[in-house]
Amino acid sequence: MSKFLVFSLVIFVVFSCKKKIKENVTGVKPTTEKTLKDMPFPFGAAVSASLLRENSSYKAIVIKEYSSLTPENAMKFGIIHPAENYYNWPDADEIVALAIADGKRIHGHTLNWYADVPVWVKNFKGSAQDWENLLKTHIQTIVSHFKGKVASWDVVNEAFEDDGSLRNSIWVQKLGADYIARAFQYAHEADPAAILFYNDYGNEYGAEYTSKKREAILNLVNSLKNRGIPIGGIGLQMHTRYIQTDANISLAITSATATGLKVHISELDVALNATYDPALVYTESLGEMQAAKYKSIVKIYYSIPKSQQWGITTWNVTDGDSWVPGFFNVPDWPLIFDKQYQKKPAYQAIFDGVVK
Ligand code: XIL
Repeated sequence: MSKFLVFSLVIFVVFSCKKKIKENVTGVKPTTEKTLKDMPFPFGAAVSASLLRENSSYKAIVIKEYSSLTPENAMKFGIIHPAENYYNWPDADEIVALAIADGKRIHGHTLNWYADVPVWVKNFKGSAQDWENLLKTHIQTIVSHFKGKVASWDVVNEAFEDDGSLRNSIWVQKLGADYIARAFQYAHEADPAAILFYNDYGNEYGAEYTSKKREAILNLVNSLKNRGIPIGGIGLQMHTRYIQTDANISLAITSATATGLKVHISELDVALNATYDPALVYTESLGEMQAAKYKSIVKIYYSIPKSQQWGITTWNVTDGDSWVPGFFNVPDWPLIFDKQYQKKPAYQAIFDGVVK
């Protein structure tokens, strides 16, 4: 190679490097756009099977942004097992297939919940042993179907009342309080590799309301763990409001972390309609306060040991798909994308929460 060629090559390399450095410093040429997949822990959303099928904008955000998906309803008893000898797989299978195709993790929700008992179960007649078989068959059929595909399960959901007493659910009535432990064992037998969670809301309720529920949840989880029941994690639903204090949120997260189990913020939304005002309108300032709360939650969560960070999952994707307005029957905007699929300030706040 001639000296001239070598010289030109050196000059070219030096100049390109200088240009790159300058671009990075001034931010003139943005590097590729960040998505929630770039978060330092799995960031997920609950998803609706029908929206994924019917709404391409929704599907595009789901594919682009999230590294973990939870079926919002598709794995619940009433949908997946609507008759004694019939399992309805397609909705859940489609979500799982989409996740696998894109390398996303799947969190299964939920194998047992007081609020979702189909008519055939309500009408079921049988001995204690028949009820035990019903519970076991339901859990093991579903966990086996998704074995190796679903990484983790909410095994039991919302077993406690808000005052910390055990709900007198059909499961407690038919099987006794310790059915919870057996539910974990049945799930573990069907897929020993799956991480099994107890999931509930209200861990962040402050002493001004009641801390009894948090204590009851932690007692249950610790006792299962101490008995060698295969529980691997605790799910904090965190359906919360922008007026919730950081101190209460911190207590919920740190007390769950103290169990030594993995911690999943499993159903996050930050509601804005704190007074249940039917005429409330979304304002920029509400959006900013919501963003600040999302940031605090992420920041507190990011401070727990990495090995315990199972991830954060928001409960659906856009304000138009959130369960909150329907549940409370007032307008609300609890999520990080708006109805037009645009990012709200809360979206950026998620990233701001992990800036050290
Ligand atoms: C809700 C869904 O978002 C709704 O679409 C459905 O109609 C009822 O259930 N706690 C849970 C979730 O564990 O399963 C609930 O999801 C919200 C509260």
